[in-house]
Amino acid sequence: MINRRAFLASTSLLVASAGLIACSAEARAEVLVYKSPTCGCCNAWISHMREAGFEVEARDIDDVSVVKRQSGIPQHLWSCHTALIDGYVIEGHTPAVEIQRLLAERPDMIGLAVPGMPAGSPGMETSGPNQDYTVYGFDADSVSTWSEISG
Ligand code: CU
Ligand code: CU
Repeated sequence: MINRRAFLASTSLLVASAGLIACSAEARAEVLVYKSPTCGCCNAWISHMREAGFEVEARDIDDVSVVKRQSGIPQHLWSCHTALIDGYVIEGHTPAVEIQRLLAERPDMIGLAVPGMPAGSPGMETSGPNQDYTVYGFDADSVSTWSEISG
């Protein structure tokens, strides 16, 4: 006959490990990246995201501007790749840590953008001097400063 206390202990262990699995699935939010097939710095940013624990799927498309327009990214914020993650849009070489804060705070906006391709941003590492740059938060009709990064 199975010992009742041992049975209860194993059941609560099962419940605990199921909770752990649910938590880690949440931490590994999936990222879908649209990029041009010839973009090398996009792949470097994807590596940066994977190292930070994100699960990334990359999709090559010939005209990334179509996705940028459909995603509602103001044109002056455009960069190379566009990523979709958990209901938000991420444009360009945005640092993973800023995306983690976005997903934790869940503000009411479309997403984050690092316009252009600033030297020293994730995926744009250089041996030369790095640029200061701004991560913007954007909505259909407003753009705000999300964070300032010094190079
Ligand atoms: Cu780039
Ligand atoms: Cu890119």
